Amino acid sequence: MAKKKMTIPDFRKYKEEGRKFAYTTAYDYTMASIVNESDVEIILVGDSLAMCMLGRSTTVGVTMEDMIHHIKPVVLGAPETFVVGDMPFGSYNQSPEQAIANASRMLMETNCDAIKLEGANMAPTIRRLVEAGIPVMGHIGLTPQTASSVGGFKVQGGTPESAAALLKAAKEIEAAGAFSLVVECVPKVVGKALRDALEIPVLGIGAGPDVDCQVLVSYDLLGMYNGFKPKFVKHFANIRQLMVDGLNQFHQESVDGTFPDEETSFNKAVDIPKLY
Ligand code: KIV
Repeated sequence: MAKKKMTIPDFRKYKEEGRKFAYTTAYDYTMASIVNESDVEIILVGDSLAMCMLGRSTTVGVTMEDMIHHIKPVVLGAPETFVVGDMPFGSYNQSPEQAIANASRMLMETNCDAIKLEGANMAPTIRRLVEAGIPVMGHIGLTPQTASSVGGFKVQGGTPESAAALLKAAKEIEAAGAFSLVVECVPKVVGKALRDALEIPVLGIGAGPDVDCQVLVSYDLLGMYNGFKPKFVKHFANIRQLMVDGLNQFHQESVDGTFPDEETSFNKAVDIPKLY
């Protein structure tokens, strides 16, 4: 069956129907077109492009310009896939007005379907964004943009108090009008509690199996990224090794003269004048 792009109302509808879905990242046209060809329903142009594309060690430092530059080709490459643009650090935390201006710019310049922003305390800003007509996906639990303030890449919600704080934040974000919520790096019982407490779908990355949608970064799940591998990452393919093997084959045939062959050469006969 041909792939049909999800709509915002579909997010709640899928949850009501108990229909699970999947969410990954893309940062360029080719990867977007590959995801578009797959059954995965949602693409995030995440600020994880800092690591996957730019070789940085954190997501802080990615700019609105970086994001817009990468979201545009992803939207072009994935016409049947819902595309979310990630708001970079510093683009929405100063005031709701700043958030509205930058989120509007992201939607208008890239034609993506929604924006995502991080933070358990973002309900007031999300309310203003939604009032301004901007579809918002929240993100709580481990929030990579501010991970250094919680001591790095650590499981969140691991005590009754911190789990209760996540539930409270999630309910506030839902009440503010977010259409879905990413929950990152929490015990699976917390993922389940959040799923059960919310009417909007919980999109879990390292949040266990009992959520509405699983999220993984494409470069992680395809086995392409060779940096830090969190516990929750599974390699569903080993594309990096396939690429290295392909490059080595190219090198081998280039140096032993078997490439290019008849098929990959222009074979038209030409009388070459004797000039030298
Ligand atoms: O930037 C990103 O890839 C993300 C995911 C980890 C959800 O925010």
